[in-house]
Amino acid sequence: MEIRSRRLRSSQLLRKMTRETRLSADSLIYPFFVREGQGVIEELPSLPGQVRYSPDTLSKGVEEALENGVSNFILFGLPGPEKKDAMGTGAWIEDGVVQQALQELRRSFGDQIYLLTDVCLCEYTDHGHCGLIEDGKVQNDSTLPLIAKTALSHAQAGCDMVAPSGMMDRTVAALREALDAGGYPDIPIMSYAAKYASAYYGPFRDAAGSTPQFGDRKTYQMDYHNQKEALKRIQLDVNEGADLLIVKPAIAYLDIIAKAAERFELPIAAYQVSGEYAIIKAAAAAGLIDERAVVNESAVAIYRAGAEILISYFAKELAQAIQKGDIG
Ligand code: PBG
Ligand code: ZN
Repeated sequence: MEIRSRRLRSSQLLRKMTRETRLSADSLIYPFFVREGQGVIEELPSLPGQVRYSPDTLSKGVEEALENGVSNFILFGLPGPEKKDAMGTGAWIEDGVVQQALQELRRSFGDQIYLLTDVCLCEYTDHGHCGLIEDGKVQNDSTLPLIAKTALSHAQAGCDMVAPSGMMDRTVAALREALDAGGYPDIPIMSYAAKYASAYYGPFRDAAGSTPQFGDRKTYQMDYHNQKEALKRIQLDVNEGADLLIVKPAIAYLDIIAKAAERFELPIAAYQVSGEYAIIKAAAAAGLIDERAVVNESAVAIYRAGAEILISYFAKELAQAIQKGDIG
């Protein structure tokens, strides 16, 4: 007898019934860039199809996302160049861009949306690094109180969850302590636990104006040769009280996602970063690939590897594809 496996291919309904990987729009997070000013909606040349909003126009972006079925967002703040300083003061001031945006969105949408904030200094420092600089080096320990202050100010302005992305040691413990002491014990921490020093962040840094003015981020972000190091750093964040874990970038790090999902009892979020987005956009614009098909295939691969949450600039398109039944 010849053995064939034809049944799983015989009908579309059966193929959908037996899918091993399920996606839901509920697990998608869409990133927003908020800059200073009023009435601003401007294209981001490095991220075609993505825009920068000012706090007062951001609700347009939210409405559009809600129409597509996406209700989770992560905010990145882009202060004007004249607002940047050595300490990144703009990150925690009461009328900072992210703080304004949070208040505005809370007023307009209440609990209809879930708001995360990226907590880091690099968009606010004039040197573009994620921490304080002394003797030409990023200082881990003196940076912690500033990131903690930033997280607390986001909580006070109305965020639902904070996501520290600076890769300083003991960040999660410092944030947990500050949030608890400040009266926000219920705000969870989604830690960028395994964040690699990656060339895939290029378009984001152009968009955010956060390219380091000297050196690189290799002293605090991870070396892409290493897998065990990532698991060790994730373990530290788990011990410090992280509630969710991010692996970043996504497509080139599926092994890390898979290992982390196997080993840790916390939800794993993958961040499909700006370079991953830009590659797909550019290849599609050149007529070399089918954009939708590649977007779908990439997202399913990330979930198949073990991610339960996906942060992606394609969140709206993915929600549509799920809705149509193309994936999920
Ligand atoms: C800030 C931060 C970065 C990204 C998210 N948070 C940039 C960096 O580390 O240089 C990258 C996101 C993307 O590329 O889409 N620390
Ligand atoms: Zn940073």
